[in-house]
Amino acid sequence: MPVERSLRVADAAVIVHPDADAASRDVADRVIRIVADAVAARGKAVLGLATGATPEKVYDLLADRVARGAFSFRDVTTYNLDEYYPIQPLDPLSYRHYMHSRLFGRVDLAPNRAHVLDGTVPEFAAAEHAAWFDRWIEADGGLDLQLLGIGRTGHVGFNEPSDLPPAEFADLPTRLVDLHPTTRADAVREFGSPEAVIPRALTMGVRQILAARAIVMLATGAKKAPIVAQALKGPITAAVPASLLRTVADKVVWVLDEAAAAELG
Ligand code: F6R
Repeated sequence: MPVERSLRVADAAVIVHPDADAASRDVADRVIRIVADAVAARGKAVLGLATGATPEKVYDLLADRVARGAFSFRDVTTYNLDEYYPIQPLDPLSYRHYMHSRLFGRVDLAPNRAHVLDGTVPEFAAAEHAAWFDRWIEADGGLDLQLLGIGRTGHVGFNEPSDLPPAEFADLPTRLVDLHPTTRADAVREFGSPEAVIPRALTMGVRQILAARAIVMLATGAKKAPIVAQALKGPITAAVPASLLRTVADKVVWVLDEAAAAELG
């Protein structure tokens, strides 16, 4: 039976699993362990969550554990990375809806502790709403874990490639952003046509992501192989946002399947 392998690429800790299901099981186990440790230490756990295709199986596994009485979100608070803008929470394409149907509605998480950026705030209030999101996270003691996926642009959250110097990029707060054309093209899968894709989003900032006490990056499938290799082996640059994770390498683990790891050599 094929087994996982651990490698170090530059300074990054990388675990490669035979397939996406095994990688997802690993990530679900990490979430459960980090929640247990944080609850034991502080009486609560604060999780940063991602949407998209990649973590779907992780949420299924977590919901199954809760259904079996083997895990609980009783002491958990969550903050999601991003939300399309503008969008209504009940829109089936909203990330609020995604989270409700895949996780929040299936587990014992208190509704007032599941935070998703609000795609209905008027534009003049978006910056203030984003600043409050950062303050809430800080008031909650910061994130115990940030779960990430990677976009084909190298984005984390919806922090798209930029020509800022890395230190300035690393300090970006939560804010309203434009999606990169590649990200918009990938979103056609959900929205049905290029014209229907919502081209803007609210995203957690790079600062908040890098400040998490632990970061788990899950990437699966052959389509992610080139950007995973660039992020891990190329220069640390805002042109490949996920490469900034190497500036906090000691608290990051990359959990991949063999397909996503194919270009690591
Ligand atoms: C989603 C998010 C994005 C996705 C990334 C990968 O909340 O912040 O960064 O993690 O776009 O998306 P999938 O998993 O659909 O390939």
